[in-house]
Formats: sequence, structure tokens, C-alpha cells
Amino acid sequence: MSEPILVADHVQMLFFDSAEGPFEALGNATFQVMPNEFVCLIGPSGCGKSTLLRILGGLIRPTSGTVLLDGQPLAGPQRRIGFVFQHSNLMPWRTALANVMLPLQLQGVPRIEAQARARDMLQLVGLGAYADMLPRDLSGGMRQRVALARALVYDPDILLLDEPFGALDALTRERMSWELLALWQARKKTVLMVTHNIQEAIFLSDRVLTMSRRPGHVEREVVIDLPRPRSIDDLYTTRFIELTHLLRDSLR
Ligand SMILES: Nc1ncnc2c1ncn2[C@@H]1O[C@H](COP(=O)(O)OP(=O)(O)O)[C@@H](O)[C@H]1O
Ligand SMILES: [Mg+2]
Repeated sequence: MSEPILVADHVQMLFFDSAEGPFEALGNATFQVMPNEFVCLIGPSGCGKSTLLRILGGLIRPTSGTVLLDGQPLAGPQRRIGFVFQHSNLMPWRTALANVMLPLQLQGVPRIEAQARARDMLQLVGLGAYADMLPRDLSGGMRQRVALARALVYDPDILLLDEPFGALDALTRERMSWELLALWQARKKTVLMVTHNIQEAIFLSDRVLTMSRRPGHVEREVVIDLPRPRSIDDLYTTRFIELTHLLRDSLR
């Protein structure tokens, strides 16, 4: 039995910037993620999912509780953790390639090497031919793929995805989740992804965690026992439909 790669232990977040006193954005979130697991997090709007992900990414510190990465307390952002936000927040004046190169350049990776690695990543997300385009000339789905390439360029062990397909139309979204699944199957990574979409969560995950209303904590866990590799046909199986009902009930 291997050890969890990521642990959230009673993680709580208060914000003190309101006049009415502390605001509890995240309750008492406790859960763990195993290496190479694909876990989705579902919960009502405003329950603290983004806050939780930012804490796990080392971008903000929790008010109380601990986050462990491979058993060690997390101190700030790690290269082992890649992050994709709901909005791709690419630099508008940089080409797709230059956006993906940026994190490497900030680390002092020589330009030629950074360029080669960024090109590989764009290829991987199917954007090899779009390297020289600016974000404004790319579709929403393509911009999210650039953001995914940027998160992957360090070859992180863990990917934290905050509703990465939230702003996309249904068909693009379906295709993106396909691609993400293929990517995850090809290069084993640990993924923790926030989504609102029950079917998407079941299709992708090993486990789905549901969160309560704000201040959110992890309320239930649904193990997705569908065999892998999965295909679109799984969406129509009895078990898939049972799991959809189960998860919908858990979210009530
Ligand atoms: N920096 C902040 N300062 C004050 N309140 C915040 C801050 N970030 C988030 N919140 C509040 O915390 C709650 C949880 O936010 P968030 O984590 O974004 O929820 P979710 O992603 O589940 O929709 C919301 O009510 C939000 O307005
Ligand atoms: Mg959010």
C-alpha cells in the first residue's frame, strides 16, 4: 500500500478583509489523494473549492490545518504541482509558445531548451501548429489547452485543475475531457480537478469528493468503479447511470 501524495488535514480558511469580521471561506477540509489517482471535487458555488485548490497549490496559506506533499508540510508553490485556473490567464502579448516557455524562462532555463520543451508540450495538447498565435486569435478551448501545456511544461507529478473547462461550450468541453483522460492515461499523473459537471467527474475519476455548502468541508466520497481504459460507450452503461444517481443524491 503506497502513501498518499497529497493530504489535506483539517484545512480551514478565514478571510479577514470584510468589515463584519472574519469570513469562513473553507470549513474543515480533510482528505487525501494517492499517487496517480484522478480525483474530482464537486460542490456548490462559493463553498471554497478554489480556495482549497489554491491552498493545495501553495499559493495561499490556510488559517489552520496542514497540507502534506509526500508526507512533508507544503511550503509555497512547488514545481511538482501544476495549476490550471478556470480562466486561462495567458499573457495577451505573448504567443502560445512564449506563454508556455515563460515558467521555464523564469527558472533560468536557456532559451533554446525552453523553446524545445514548450513546443513538445504544445504538440502534446494538439496545438503544435498554433505555437506562433496570440491568445486573442485562439478559441476558448485552445487557450485552455495552452494553459494546460504551460502547467505541464515542468512535467509536474500533480495537476490541480480548477474548473478548467468551465467556460467552454458543451462539445468543446467533452472533447477536452477526452484529451485530458488520454493524457492522464499516457503519462501517469495525480490529478485533482474541480468541476460542476457530474458526468465529467464520473467519466474521469477514480473517486469523486463532494463538498458541503460554505464553509465547505469534504462531505462524501464516491468511488468510481468503472474499469479503465474508459471510452465514450461507458456513458451509457447501467453502472454509469447508477453512479450518476448516487452522486446526485450525495450532492443534495
Ligand atoms: N481573497 C478573498 N477574500 C475574501 N473572500 C474571499 C476571497 N477569496 C474567496 N472568498 C470568498 O470565499 C468563498 C469561497 O470562495 P471560492 O473558494 O472561490 O468558492 P468556489 O470556488 O467553491 O466557488 C466565497 O464566498 C468567496 O467570495
Ligand atoms: Mg471556484
